[in-house]
Amino acid sequence: MAAARGEFSSRLGFIMAAAGSAVGLGNIWGFPTQAASNGGAAFLLVYLFLAFTLAYPALMAELIIGRHAHANAVSALRLISPNRLLRGLGACTGIVGFIVASLILSFYAIVAGWMIAFCLSAFSTLLGLGNINAWLTEFGFSRNLSFMLLFMCLTIGIISGGVREGIERWSERLMPMLLVSLVLLVIYVLTLDGAMEGLKIYLLPDFERALSPKLIISALGAAFFSLSLGVGTMLIYGSYIKDEENLPVVGSLVTLVDISIAVLAGFLVLPAMYVALHNGVEIFTPAGQLISEDTLIFTVLPELFATMGLAGTVVSFVFFFLMSIAALTSSISMLEVPVAYVIEEHGVQRKAAVWVIGGLIALVSVVILLNFSALFGLVVAFTTRYSQPLLGFMFCIYAGWIWHRDQLLGELRKGNPDVEDTLFWKIWPWYVRVICPVIILAIFAQSLWG
Ligand code: PHE
Repeated sequence: MAAARGEFSSRLGFIMAAAGSAVGLGNIWGFPTQAASNGGAAFLLVYLFLAFTLAYPALMAELIIGRHAHANAVSALRLISPNRLLRGLGACTGIVGFIVASLILSFYAIVAGWMIAFCLSAFSTLLGLGNINAWLTEFGFSRNLSFMLLFMCLTIGIISGGVREGIERWSERLMPMLLVSLVLLVIYVLTLDGAMEGLKIYLLPDFERALSPKLIISALGAAFFSLSLGVGTMLIYGSYIKDEENLPVVGSLVTLVDISIAVLAGFLVLPAMYVALHNGVEIFTPAGQLISEDTLIFTVLPELFATMGLAGTVVSFVFFFLMSIAALTSSISMLEVPVAYVIEEHGVQRKAAVWVIGGLIALVSVVILLNFSALFGLVVAFTTRYSQPLLGFMFCIYAGWIWHRDQLLGELRKGNPDVEDTLFWKIWPWYVRVICPVIILAIFAQSLWG
């Protein structure tokens, strides 16, 4: 029934693709704005801690299960379950995962569309086309709809190419571009007046804030969102890795790239905010709250770029181009989740699957756009803050308790025959069994009482 499965051709190809999935709006938009509104360095510390101690082990659970099953999350969780009840629960987890992945894409495509619009607005500014510029940069249904659709078409176009020709090829092209433009921007912004103020906020922690429950739960959500966990994305990418690859190593490389880019983006966004402040742009309310947390980069940054003349137009173009690329390498990994499922479980052709599912998700985006104030924040919170960590919890339970330990070890041995002697094997199995689930639940419990 299943069509021939794709596979990444090389280790680099996989790392680019998985890092491409992980590095996205979550890193360059989500992480720095949350850090800015949650006490800078305090958030950074909690985020780093959670990313290494919780998100990396959960990522490994998905990669190992995926590679073992060489299948989508629904079939994979079924495969490793010993009885009917657990097979059913596994299938449900996989299905909820792909619904959540699709919902994430439905809001992600809207935000990514804004990025493309702001990127193009650099041209309308240069050409002095005021009307078009206003249309591109102001919140409006026709702009939102057009660019969401454009972004969805790009995503669909790449995913129709399959694993090697689509995901791997484009990630290998786009990721280096992203890194280079990010580094150039950071260097440039750090030379501007006011940047050092932002740097201080980013690097000097306020420990009282670092321990507040609200901060911890948003850092947990940010870490899970940033590593694309819980929804089966990493599981499906894991299923396309060759058997010879040493999974703990490739997993840690992906985690390192993801975290470094988030941290690097913080070096851009926080200093940029204070440069804006220095240039007379309001960024705080009189009460000291950051203005428009979520839309920060669409309000503060363009105003900042506008105060910088021609250089600002170029910087603005590079910044929003970067955001669009980062979004695209992530959105393809979201769409691959439901697409792989219907191809493998229902024998549908890739092209047909991609267009039908992409179309349905675009329809959901339209519904969100039509009820923006009621739905947007709700979908973001439901998917990223609650569903992702809870689904990640389920993957840990499957890897730690339900899957037979010998099979798990056998899977890891394929890429590293001596894995039993490594630190990874000494720590990870009980860690993913006990520590990860307990901490995820504890953070949730605390947030409910809080
Ligand atoms: N990790 C992506 C980001 O940081 C978002 C994502 C979530 C991608 C879930 C795939 C699945 O933007």
